[in-house]
Amino acid sequence: MDIFASHHRGISGRRFLHHSHILLTVLWSLSLVQTIPQVQGLGDWQSPETKRYCHAQNWLSMRQRKLCELHPDLIPSLTEGILAGISECKRNFRDRRWNCPVSNVTAVFGPSRLKTRNQEMAFLQGMTSASITFHVTRACGSGEVVECGCAQNKGRKHNKEAGTGDWAWGGCSDNIRYGMYFTRDFIDTTDTGGNDVTGANLMMQHNYEAGLKTIDTNMRVKCKCHGVSGTCTSKVCWNTMPKLEEVGQIVFNKYENAKFMTYSRKRRRLRPNRKDPSSRRKPANTDLVYLAASVDYCEPNKKHGSVGTHGRLCNKTSTSENGCPLLCCGRGYQTMVRKSRGNCNCRFEWCCEVVCETCLLSEELHICN
Ligand SMILES: *[C@@H]1O[C@H](CO)[C@@H](O)[C@H](O)[C@H]1NC(C)=O
Ligand SMILES: *[C@@H]1O[C@H](CO)[C@@H](O)[C@H](O)[C@H]1NC(C)=O
Repeated sequence: MDIFASHHRGISGRRFLHHSHILLTVLWSLSLVQTIPQVQGLGDWQSPETKRYCHAQNWLSMRQRKLCELHPDLIPSLTEGILAGISECKRNFRDRRWNCPVSNVTAVFGPSRLKTRNQEMAFLQGMTSASITFHVTRACGSGEVVECGCAQNKGRKHNKEAGTGDWAWGGCSDNIRYGMYFTRDFIDTTDTGGNDVTGANLMMQHNYEAGLKTIDTNMRVKCKCHGVSGTCTSKVCWNTMPKLEEVGQIVFNKYENAKFMTYSRKRRRLRPNRKDPSSRRKPANTDLVYLAASVDYCEPNKKHGSVGTHGRLCNKTSTSENGCPLLCCGRGYQTMVRKSRGNCNCRFEWCCEVVCETCLLSEELHICN
């Protein structure tokens, strides 16, 4: 995808001039700017490049394509958000039979997206919206985006991080409101299934909302001291998002406690599934919900989003899901020896060198039948 064949722009001073804490903002933004890709020539929403670019993204719905044309400078963050969500999914599920075999934005959005309604889909939906919110919010704080900037510093004057001493809001607070607003607007599901309120649509809406709330409810305050040689004569604090890996962990916990629901055609809403004793109560709006039981993911089944576990590496001694017995579904496994050259017998020599020998190392690999 050419979205990533991008260049890194330096900081444009434009937006920083409005800020009273210029230095702090610049310092803080420096660490963010490097990781946000920019699509060349996508500055102006009326430009033919923008139109052409948005049109070429065939995973966008009509409405999303319009949004793309209106917010061209947020589209890179959006795409990066979706892909980072997929990476988080792979990381959290790497030891599971379902190890998130999803590689593309087109697997999450657009006509060819995965259409399961199970717990794993609930994770993907929650993680995707959390990750889009995260990346859009971060882009706002970078000062590179026209439609949003840092947030107004508001909030309780008492918090653990800032303590009770004298401090002031300052710097660049993460603009989570805008991130959530944009994400809700973008993943509005009303046009993916027409005006039809189907169970799958309600599940999607619920999980997308639960996902983006994960960031909002885990915002924290960070502070920086200013003063001569380590003293803290003045303290400046700002609101900041949790790390995306933390968000992934939180959404993964929600996945493990997801609520099994059924779609009530008569009342046009989801209600707890009686088959699941843990789902008696109405789910909180921060819970993930799902509508169908998962398959065991042992064999490939496209409709259920399974690629099977044939050929997967397993751990011979582990008794959990990455262990050969469970991961290979009782089919057994092959053992192979991988030889490689590596450092061994390393020792420290005065002064100051580490000297190693090169040895032939061998490693046993176990592969599911
Ligand atoms: C990823 O998406 C692009 C379009 O954005 C498509 O051309 C490509 O085939 C997709 N790749 C995979 C592995 O699905
Ligand atoms: C395999 O699992 C055991 C027990 O859980 C663990 O100690 C070991 O590090 C694992 N091996 C690999 C190669 O991951």
